[in-house]
Amino acid sequence: MTSSEPASTGAVDGARAPWWRSAVIYEVYLRSFADKDGDGTGDLRGLRSRLPYLAELGVDAVWITPWYPSPLADGGYDVSDYRDIDPRYGTLADADALITDAHALGLRIVIDLVANHTSAEHPWFTAALAARPGSPERERYFFRDGRGGGESPPNDWISAFGGRAWTRVTESDGGPGQWYLHTFAPEQPDLDWENPEVQDDFDEVLRFWFDRGVDGVRIDAAPAMAKKAGLPDAGHAPDALFESARWVDSPHWDVEGVHEILRRWRRLADGYDGHRLIVTESVVNGPERLARYVRPDEAHTTFNFDYLHAPWHGPTLRSVIDATLTSLAPHGAPATWVLSSHDETRPVTRFGRAETGTALMGTGSTGERSDLALGLRRARAALLLTLALPGGAYLYQGEELGLPEVEDLPEDVLQDPSWERSGRTVRGRDGCRVPLPWSGAHPPFGFTADGVAPWLPQPAGWAALTVETQRADEGSMLSLCRAALRLRRLRSDLHDAPLTWVEDLRGRPEVLAFDRGTAFRCLVNLSPEPVALEDHGRVLLASGPDDGSLAADSAVWFDRT
Ligand code: NOJ
Repeated sequence: MTSSEPASTGAVDGARAPWWRSAVIYEVYLRSFADKDGDGTGDLRGLRSRLPYLAELGVDAVWITPWYPSPLADGGYDVSDYRDIDPRYGTLADADALITDAHALGLRIVIDLVANHTSAEHPWFTAALAARPGSPERERYFFRDGRGGGESPPNDWISAFGGRAWTRVTESDGGPGQWYLHTFAPEQPDLDWENPEVQDDFDEVLRFWFDRGVDGVRIDAAPAMAKKAGLPDAGHAPDALFESARWVDSPHWDVEGVHEILRRWRRLADGYDGHRLIVTESVVNGPERLARYVRPDEAHTTFNFDYLHAPWHGPTLRSVIDATLTSLAPHGAPATWVLSSHDETRPVTRFGRAETGTALMGTGSTGERSDLALGLRRARAALLLTLALPGGAYLYQGEELGLPEVEDLPEDVLQDPSWERSGRTVRGRDGCRVPLPWSGAHPPFGFTADGVAPWLPQPAGWAALTVETQRADEGSMLSLCRAALRLRRLRSDLHDAPLTWVEDLRGRPEVLAFDRGTAFRCLVNLSPEPVALEDHGRVLLASGPDDGSLAADSAVWFDRT
């Protein structure tokens, strides 16, 4: 950031509108961002060394995926100690230094709070396994007797990674015993949030990190945290898909008790200065249900999965944008706009397919061919659309480089639990988690020390996509992203002016046209044909060729003063 530019909305100690209302938050998938100690896995010192890159890119905050000690059964979303850093990533001292450096650069730090489940190696769970049925150690989790004389799971609930959500344990006498619940992998047993000890301990976890200066928490799998009393059947077939966005009145998802937990955490966060953020990951049935997570005494924001999963289709996107804004308005909560994450097929690949919408947790390769040139054009346009919408936005590492999904990872390197749990039919999410290419002409492209193999192999073709290469190219995705973020920072209308659709372009439903205030206009052409440009103002930024027309699959920002 140069001194002539303002700090992001709400400087780190500022008294303006809370920073999170219009922040651009960059997701760091820690294992794959930058490796300093040369073991092929990203780490905190690697991230720290690249903070100037993120400040220069122009984002406001960094969300770091779980950094806690973990057996990595699910990429760190299986936490064995919530008050420490995994030694593969560094130490608590490294985390402190990272927070200090980030703040000095005007960047905030958001961490992941995985509270629905622990790792099976968490001391609470190992104690529960060693304890007897009915003991207090088991009551922090969901241990139940099976049906049919114990042989069948206690109910029909399914796991997000495929199969039943229950695993049977062997009791200390060596015999088959109770079953425990895991909404995700068996290595991720669900906590029982009715248990006061669980509630109290997570208060301490939140304080532990807020006291260290963390600016916010992203609540993993928030709708899973409460279960209907008695754990009744949900009506799932054993091979049913985990389609939480379609579920109504599920006994294990989006149950009312979730909101009590969020209220408790909101009270706690409000006791701190600096507008600490609570953002939930809540894939629920439609914008009305989603808006319940951001009522004034609950989370501040929530990820917008309807936008993330929407196809490249003007009328659909417009209705998702409208539904988002309408449903959040009564609660005064800002929207978030998200195109990508460590769980989803990368936009360049998704937008290059015939089927551009996606289901939750992109299942990796669908086998469907992707036209990556088309996908990149659309991803560039989608970036300008996203950054022009009112509210906050998320960028996932590598999105600013236009990285495609890596669809041909060798089977023997795949680590996503979906791969084994689906009987090796669903490749899972590793293809969007391949380590970043920073510089140089050959892997590991500056991600780790030369000669070291990154934990997932990078395609040789990524030489053309490194930060170093793209920095030198004014037409690159990186240059577009930096320019857009710079404009977004400089223009107050992109922070607080409302969105108004430009209705005289209504006859072209494949062209999205909207203003932010009176001086800013965004046009997005989602059709395969160019559209002649009338006088919309001075072009500020264009995702496609600047030839006087609005090219197919492109977006333009205008200044209308
Ligand atoms: C959502 C996280 O983003 C994902 O990576 C993880 O597998 C599940 N929650 C379970 O924690």
